[in-house]
Amino acid sequence: MTGKRVGILISGRGSNMRSLIAAASTPDFPAEIVLVISNNGKAEGLSYAEDAGIPTKVIAHRAFVSREDFDRALDGVLAEAGVEIVCLAGFMRILSDWFAKRWAGRLLNIHPSLLPLFKGVHVHEQALAAGVRISGCTVHFVVPDLDAGPIIAQAAVPVALGDTPETLAARILAEEHKIYPAALKLLAEGRVRLENGHAVFAL
Ligand code: GRF
Repeated sequence: MTGKRVGILISGRGSNMRSLIAAASTPDFPAEIVLVISNNGKAEGLSYAEDAGIPTKVIAHRAFVSREDFDRALDGVLAEAGVEIVCLAGFMRILSDWFAKRWAGRLLNIHPSLLPLFKGVHVHEQALAAGVRISGCTVHFVVPDLDAGPIIAQAAVPVALGDTPETLAARILAEEHKIYPAALKLLAEGRVRLENGHAVFAL
């Protein structure tokens, strides 16, 4: 459990966080989870991380006047912990351009659709309303534009007849838990990098 030092940002349940913690605890994984930060003190994921022996920190966004002030506090805590890669895992705050640029190439997000389709929130509702027969999930580099960064990994998930946002979300979540650790592994091993606004792979 050594390698690149990873910080995970969460706001709630933290199931993707758990999949990253599990992957990082396997032999030869090229990254270790050194810190979990939540903007929400009630995030369920916090107690799981604590039980796993991972330091946690709550930074309540309401305590800050501007988005960038919050992001600067976040950045300070990450730097103090020697974090090298940040994974957003159900982190429900839009980060400032300042933060996205500062962490460019070292900041990942997971989104529950096949981007560039269905950005933002109510993602599964959007997919069902559009009538797509396939949806899925995406891990991408974070850039200032929301859910628009270069794609590292995707998984496709068929939409079933009668799917509700909840049933579709559950099937997609199972795939999220596979592709997020895989994408983090690629980045931590230097097998993908962000260059001139593109994901460049060296497999
Ligand atoms: C996931 O569906 C993720 O793709 C989205 O928010 C949800 C977070 O779930 N960004 P969890 O907190 O990781 O369980």
